[in-house]
Amino acid sequence: MVSPKSSSMCSMFLFLVLSAASLAASASVQENFIQCLDDNSEFSVPIATAFFTPNNSSFTTVLNSSAQNLRYLVPSAPKPEFIFLPMHEAHVQAAVICSKKLGIHLRVRSGGHDYEGLSYVSELISPFIIVDLAKLRSVDVDIADNSAWVQAGATNGEVYYRIYEKSKVHGFPAGLCTSLGIGGHITGGAYGTMMRKYGLGADNVIDARIVDANGNILDREAMGEDHFWAIRGGGGASFGVILWWKIKLVPVPETVTVFTVTRTLEQGGTKLLYKWQQVADKLDEDLFIRVIISPAPKAGAKGEKTITTSYNALFLGGADRLLQVMKGSFPELGLTKKDCLETSWIKSVLYIAQFPSGTPPEVLLQGKSTFKNYFKAKSDFVREPIPETGLEGLWQRLFQEDSPLMIFNPYGGMMSKIPESEIPFPHRNGTLFKIQYVTLWEEPGDQIQAKHFDWIRKLYNYMTPYVSSFPREAYVNYRDLDLGINNHTNFVQASSWGNRYFKDNFDRLVKVKSKVDPDNFFRHEQSIPVLPVSSK
Ligand SMILES: Cc1cc2nc3c(=O)[nH]c(=O)nc-3n(C[C@H](O)[C@H](O)[C@H](O)COP(=O)(O)OP(=O)(O)OC[C@H]3O[C@@H](n4cnc5c(N)ncnc54)[C@H](O)[C@@H]3O)c2cc1C
Ligand SMILES: *[C@@H]1O[C@H](CO)[C@@H](O)[C@H](O)[C@H]1NC(C)=O
Ligand SMILES: *[C@@H]1O[C@H](CO)[C@@H](O)[C@H](O)[C@H]1NC(C)=O
Ligand SMILES: *[C@@H]1O[C@H](CO)[C@@H](O)[C@H](O)[C@H]1NC(C)=O
Ligand SMILES: *[C@@H]1O[C@H](CO)[C@@H](O)[C@H](O)[C@H]1NC(C)=O
Ligand SMILES: *[C@@H]1O[C@H](CO)[C@@H](O)[C@H](O)[C@H]1NC(C)=O
Repeated sequence: MVSPKSSSMCSMFLFLVLSAASLAASASVQENFIQCLDDNSEFSVPIATAFFTPNNSSFTTVLNSSAQNLRYLVPSAPKPEFIFLPMHEAHVQAAVICSKKLGIHLRVRSGGHDYEGLSYVSELISPFIIVDLAKLRSVDVDIADNSAWVQAGATNGEVYYRIYEKSKVHGFPAGLCTSLGIGGHITGGAYGTMMRKYGLGADNVIDARIVDANGNILDREAMGEDHFWAIRGGGGASFGVILWWKIKLVPVPETVTVFTVTRTLEQGGTKLLYKWQQVADKLDEDLFIRVIISPAPKAGAKGEKTITTSYNALFLGGADRLLQVMKGSFPELGLTKKDCLETSWIKSVLYIAQFPSGTPPEVLLQGKSTFKNYFKAKSDFVREPIPETGLEGLWQRLFQEDSPLMIFNPYGGMMSKIPESEIPFPHRNGTLFKIQYVTLWEEPGDQIQAKHFDWIRKLYNYMTPYVSSFPREAYVNYRDLDLGINNHTNFVQASSWGNRYFKDNFDRLVKVKSKVDPDNFFRHEQSIPVLPVSSK
């Protein structure tokens, strides 16, 4: 390790560096940073296990470890000067202080699932570093208090497992995929199978610990209600580094029921989906039925395709009551007892995340994603059922793409009861369902990517008349840089993405940002911008 020098010398050096035109040429960004960390943290940094520069043989393994979108791991993607894995909260504080002092652009990563790779790639500013919270992943569950403190680097699957370890009748309403970093996930909302009953993960956060732009650790009381409001849905990496969330646990029954019923076009899939759109948001709040839609070979017709619509559901109760609910509200699906699987809540988590049946819950402790692809995705919110003719046009487009996928995700229930301004996530009453469009591919290459981008952008245009407008809403956790990026020069919001993700809450987010991070330290392609000085 570099020997400690006096901090005054450090700051003098820093001053010189800050006034230099660029740090890029300096071979010692890492050394300066380590020196500064030593000066600013009571815990020394174990360099060999906490620092990875591109010349280190483990660099790519660490960079790749949690990165979910292969588009941002190709050799041509910008690479960080180094990756730092803090072992203590104090290391995160020191990382913020030192990045600020040294003028190094910082990206923070929890679970690496950002759709546009914003936690590990900066197209906007270089040089940059990654602070990866993978080693900060404690989960402390307190059943008596009905709460848990969860550290940002834990996955949502680990959170579910640690709750299950202590109680079979408690759960948490966050994402369906189980490898999401709880740190980044909750910053954008965090929806899952229990959202119709309990709302989002972000709706169930009661406290937090963050590192602010000055390197201070703040809890809810210390940051104040405006700042605490902004971090629960205002998107990642604009308002500080989340160290911990304190979450409220929710009750789950000992027995829940899951099912997946698939219908093709030949089995009346289009009519059935039209019906689902009319009922999905009005069903019993214990019932969540999403629809996974993709093309498939048509049975008995070589070379022809059909569309499969898979009704994939969780019911917070037993099969008999579920069948009654379905008979009353959605008999068209023709659900039978044979389709239903009664199980525990934790096993329903594994079922929905599509682990093979019989996989033990301990798999959640691996904290790993089960697949990685090249992908591009977009989202929409729907307020009126899409007519059958609209769906038929959609099928024609899905047939043209190699590996497309759509997921219709029902709203209503608790989602409609929470006011739009309660937290920054605004997609509430009046929303029938959310659509996610995804196209996946397996080979790198600019031309290949361009072809898939073109397809999904055309699909998005096609959908315009059927989805929300003024603004055309989008889910911030399905980050989409097509909606606009911050201006490289002055970071003024370049497009309408702010209102699409946050509707009227965007203005308040900008005000909070201007107050808590006036120097715009935490920034990225779609970070919340700071008000121009004149209008402050
Ligand atoms: C396969 C897959 C399945 C998904 N399923 C769901 C789902 O069921 N429900 C749902 O709501 N969403 C889902 N998402 C979206 C997911 O919620 C977002 O991608 C979320 O941002 C992931 O958080 P992360 O920590 O894993 O990502 P990261 O890439 O680490 O971070 C995402 C963003 O947050 C910032 N950030 C990360 N950690 C912190 C921190 N500690 N403090 C402040 N900012 C931070 C990053 O800089 C980045 O801008 C899914 C995504 C994928 C790829
Ligand atoms: C890698 O490069 C850094 C400077 O960028 C240097 O300090 C370090 O010693 C190098 N490490 C190895 C293993 O070569
Ligand atoms: C670099 O990589 C090697 C081999 O993986 C490792 O032993 C070493 O500690 C790493 N870090 C540094 C700073 O050299
Ligand atoms: C990291 O991912 C890239 C892109 O898929 C791949 O080319 C590279 O071999 C991977 N490296 C490691 C060490 O996993
Ligand atoms: C939701 O909006 C509808 C009108 O669009 C209204 O009738 C209803 O009362 C609203 N529900 C809540 C809970 O605000
Ligand atoms: C960003 O803003 C500056 C100053 O307003 C302007 O000169 C520049 O052209 C803008 N850049 C882009 C990419 O829009």
